[in-house]
Amino acid sequence: MILVTGATGNLGKATVEFLTKKIPAGNIAVLVRDENKASDLKTLGVDVRTGDYHDKDSLVKAFRGIDKLLLISSNDFNDRLGQQKKAVDAAKEAGVKHILYTGVSMQNFENSALQQIMGDHFETEKHISASGLDYTFLRDNLYADVIPMFIGEHVLETGINFPAGNGKVPFSLRTEMAEAFANVLSSEGHENKIYEISNTESYSFGDVAKALSAHSGKTVTYNSPSVEDFTKALTEAGVPEPMIGFSLAFATGTKDGDFDIPNNHLEQLLGRKPSALNEAIREIYQ
Ligand SMILES: NC(=O)c1ccc[n+]([C@@H]2O[C@H](COP(=O)([O-])OP(=O)(O)OC[C@H]3O[C@@H](n4cnc5c(N)ncnc54)[C@H](OP(=O)(O)O)[C@@H]3O)[C@@H](O)[C@H]2O)c1
Repeated sequence: MILVTGATGNLGKATVEFLTKKIPAGNIAVLVRDENKASDLKTLGVDVRTGDYHDKDSLVKAFRGIDKLLLISSNDFNDRLGQQKKAVDAAKEAGVKHILYTGVSMQNFENSALQQIMGDHFETEKHISASGLDYTFLRDNLYADVIPMFIGEHVLETGINFPAGNGKVPFSLRTEMAEAFANVLSSEGHENKIYEISNTESYSFGDVAKALSAHSGKTVTYNSPSVEDFTKALTEAGVPEPMIGFSLAFATGTKDGDFDIPNNHLEQLLGRKPSALNEAIREIYQ
């Protein structure tokens, strides 16, 4: 029996949907906080279990009878590491044999502007390794789907203003990552392996502007402002300070090349080339 957590979220739900095309729904369970958000998964015949990463007992109960657990990283930064450690401890207590964890694919961690945001992922991996359970680390580079969050809603009118310089990211579609995860979950031989989940080519925000121009038929420019100008513009637009800090950390990490580690693991797990940036932009902005 396989259980996927975060199944009311984008990545978890898409993974479960791909999985139901590969194995009987009766062999799939999900962990959700709110059953009402999982009625479509229930309709598919999936076993919907409730639990919360903050509540270890609820997780032990939900993980009973599970062999493989896909632990989708939490989106809640309130003690994210504590939440994920509870999930790992609960898995061990419940008799789970194999944990697959969605961490991050990046380099230069020790000097990265993203250290504080991404540190939980590597600490969680250490905790999983120390548990003695079989593991698979599905380290995700950035989703192409996060591009609109960085460049804003009015990009066709304003152009892209993001201080990422000429830094590049091997963006890939979240749904293709989910498809690859369903392939991993439904096949054997992935114990104690690390996959760097990314596209095979990296793209700058200048490339994103070109892809958006091609898609929209409008000329979209790319400008990489100074940190000061970017902070001032976002502050004046009323963006809350933590959100500005978050955007700046991703821009700086991108500028410094922290994500620029394209790889063919996603291609291998999918059995085809991941969608290139132009196709991803078309999919996201359609
Ligand atoms: N690689 C990237 O570019 C990238 C970008 C964004 C995020 N991420 C990471 O990847 C994860 C998956 O991405 P996504 O797009 O699927 O995120 P998402 O749509 O925000 O989904 C997050 C899932 O985590 C669940 N969750 C949050 N707190 C929980 C808790 N205390 N107990 C149990 N479940 C909890 C949510 O449940 P509810 O529906 O109940 O809230 C939701 O199902 C994110 O959580 C984040 O850590 C990666």
